[in-house]
Formats: sequence, structure tokens, C-alpha cells
Amino acid sequence: MSATITEKYPNYSPGLEGVIAGISTISEIDSDRSSLQYRGYDVHDLAEYGSYEETAYLLIHGKLPTKSELDEFRKLLAAEREVPEAVYTALKALPKETHPMDAIRTAFSVLAPFDPDYEKPATDDAANVRKAVRIVAKAGTMVANGHRIRNGLEPLKPKPEHNTAQNFLYLMTGEEPPAKTVQVMDASLTLYAEHGFNASTFACRVTVATLSDLYSGIVTGIGTLRGPLHGGANEEAMKMLLEIDTPDKAQAWIDDALEGKKKIMGFGHREYKKRDSRAIYLTKVAKELGVEKGDTRFGDIADILEKTMEERKNIHPNVDFPAAYAYYLLGIPTDLYTPIFVIARVAGWSTHAIEQLRNNRLIRPKCIYEGDANLKYVPLEDR
Ligand code: SDX
Repeated sequence: MSATITEKYPNYSPGLEGVIAGISTISEIDSDRSSLQYRGYDVHDLAEYGSYEETAYLLIHGKLPTKSELDEFRKLLAAEREVPEAVYTALKALPKETHPMDAIRTAFSVLAPFDPDYEKPATDDAANVRKAVRIVAKAGTMVANGHRIRNGLEPLKPKPEHNTAQNFLYLMTGEEPPAKTVQVMDASLTLYAEHGFNASTFACRVTVATLSDLYSGIVTGIGTLRGPLHGGANEEAMKMLLEIDTPDKAQAWIDDALEGKKKIMGFGHREYKKRDSRAIYLTKVAKELGVEKGDTRFGDIADILEKTMEERKNIHPNVDFPAAYAYYLLGIPTDLYTPIFVIARVAGWSTHAIEQLRNNRLIRPKCIYEGDANLKYVPLEDR
């Protein structure tokens, strides 16, 4: 950026880099310590010893649940897993080649008017908490059954005994998922659930800050997460790993990519200048999966890419990189990776929307105008 712009406008920062846009009590990213805490709890502890349901409760209600509170919450989620038939009718109307991120964005748009609290004002906090539970409960049902519909299969009914990870995996395949698969999926949902003022969460806050509704905030979040610079990176990272294919081709591939100034998907982060704490945990899980499945090539390719990126550019993998090959090893179709991010992040988006509305102020930044000014209008016949 030219020196004059920054001298002239010291408040201007492209992409709002480094700009503080709000105060929150939901999560804290410590870039120097490569740590992430949700409501003060380390995300590794939540992933290792807790569950996605405990994490969603913690985010929405601001504290870890007691056993009875968690049982009650699980019953609430189970009772809300079903979606109206209209959602499936809409998904069936979409072209077969529709990307699952466009399908889930459409599904939430159709779902909104069926919410029993649809008519409640945006500032009705209790209604927003009830909506948040419904949104968290239904996201996985709509992603998985949307996948069935695009494959010409009928949607399945959720099973009340399934948690969020099991519900998604069961509906997607029609079979009871193996315990290990559920455990990895559940941990990834916890790691993906929340991450401060990232692009999609901030977009969600901007939306509800106009006193629009929570569902509109969720639709905004999905549309924003879709991009390859954000949530779409996990799908792109897997395409890259499949293109590289074997560890012996990795070094030449990354040398060529960096020579060509390519952005390596799944690497780099606006906030983490050292390692993304979630990537540290998920890399361990993904590599263990590789050994278990007898396919360690992606972990081996990862080592080569990570070493080169750190040495050449001091850039580290973010959560999307290990998530990519962990999901691949679980047999998940690559274009469902970002929708899985949605299944997790609806907890974070809903929580931020509720926090924004509890102490709201319209979000409306300024911009530097560099266009023409005071031009004389020229009649059409004289142009
Ligand atoms: C997520 O914000 C969040 O919290 C997001 C997220 C969440 O949980 O919500 O963590 C989820 O979105 C993770 C990020 C997923 N995206 C990717 O993996 C896409 C690839 N990454 C890059 O596009 C990039 O790292 C960003 C977009 C993530 C961050 O970019 P910045 O902060 O805008 O940094 P930049 O693009 O200005 O890059 C600074 C320098 C540049 O070099 P120079 O031009 O100055 O020489 O670093 C280079 C960039 O070229 N660089 C990369 C790179 N990322 C940055 N070079 C190669 N490959 C990369 N991935």
C-alpha cells in the first residue's frame, strides 16, 4: 500500500487487519502461545475429554454443563434434529451438481420461516437461544440428507440416540458409523466450532447488528465461509494432496507452486503467526488415522509441505490442512468438508449473534473515497 495512503489515513488497514471491531467473551486466540480457549477452556481439553454437545452448550450458555444439564441439552437437540419436508422439496429442486455449500445455504433459508419463534423480534434473547439450539440440531441433518438427495436417495430420519457427529455420519451413509469415526468427527466439530471474529462470524454479526434475524445471520455466515480463503480451504487442500498423490512428488510440487507464487491451501492464517493450535491436535489425529487405515501417504506429504513452508515462508498449516486428510481417511466426500465446518460453526455463529444483540450497535465502517468529484452533468445527446 502506498506510503501516502497510510500517512494520510492512519486508521485504514486493508482487510481490517489488526483492527479491533468489538469486545467478546466467547473465545480467545493467543497467536504467540498458539492457543485457543472457548469461554476460558482450552480447545484441546474440550476435544480430548469433552464433546461437541458440551462445547455447543458452553458457547451458547457461557458455562460447562452439569451432567443433568448436558442430558437435558442432548434431549433438546435430539428432539430438534428433524426438518420440515419443505426443506427436502427445495433440495430436490436444485440441480444435481449444486455444491453442498449452496445446498445448505438454501436449506437454512427454507428452514427459517418454519421456526416456531420466527415472528419474534430479533432482540428476543430467549427466542434467539431457542433458535440457536434448533440451528445446531438441524445443520447436520440437512447436510447429510442433502447429500442423499443429490445422489438420488431418499432422506433418512434422524435417530434420537445419536449425537451430532453420529447423526451426520449415519444419515450420510445409512449405516451405523464406527466408534473411531464418530470420535474423530466429534473432535473436529469441537475444533471447528468457534474462532473469534473470523470473516464468516464477523459477517454474521454485521447482519444481526441491523436487527435482522438469526437465520439471516447464519445464511450470511455460510455464504462467507464458502470461499477458498476461508472455510473452502479444506476442500481445496484435499484436491492439492490428491494432485500430489505420493510423498516422492511432494518436494517438486511445492517448489514449483512457490516458484509460481501460488497460495498453498490449508496454510497461513491472519491471526496465528505460529502454529494454529487446532492444526496441532488434528494433525496428530489424522496421522494416527493414516496408520490405522494403512495409508500414511498424506501424513508423509504433509511433513514435506509443512517443512518447506516453514523454512521458505515461515508459514504454518491451519486447521483446514489436517482436517482435509482426516476426513478423506474417514471416507467423507471432499465437497462435504466445508459443510461439515458449517455443522460445527453454527454454534459459534449463533453465539456471536446472540452476544451482538445483547449489546448491539449497528456495524458501519467508513471508507476512503478516491473517485471523481463535482463533475458537470452532460446530457445524453451530448455524450
Ligand atoms: C480459516 O480467520 C479465521 O479464524 C479463519 C479460520 C476460522 O476458524 O474461522 O481459522 C478458518 O479460514 C483458515 C484459513 C483457511 N484459508 C487457507 O488456508 C487459504 C490459504 N491461506 C491464505 O490465503 C492466507 O494465509 C489467509 C487468507 C488465510 C490469510 O492471509 P492474510 O492474513 O491476508 O495474509 P496475506 O495473504 O497478506 O499473506 C501475507 C504473505 C504474502 O506474501 P507476500 O505477498 O507478502 O510475499 O504471506 C503469503 C502471501 O503470499 N502467504 C502465503 C499463504 N498465506 C500467506 N503464501 C503461500 N501460501 C499461503 N497459504
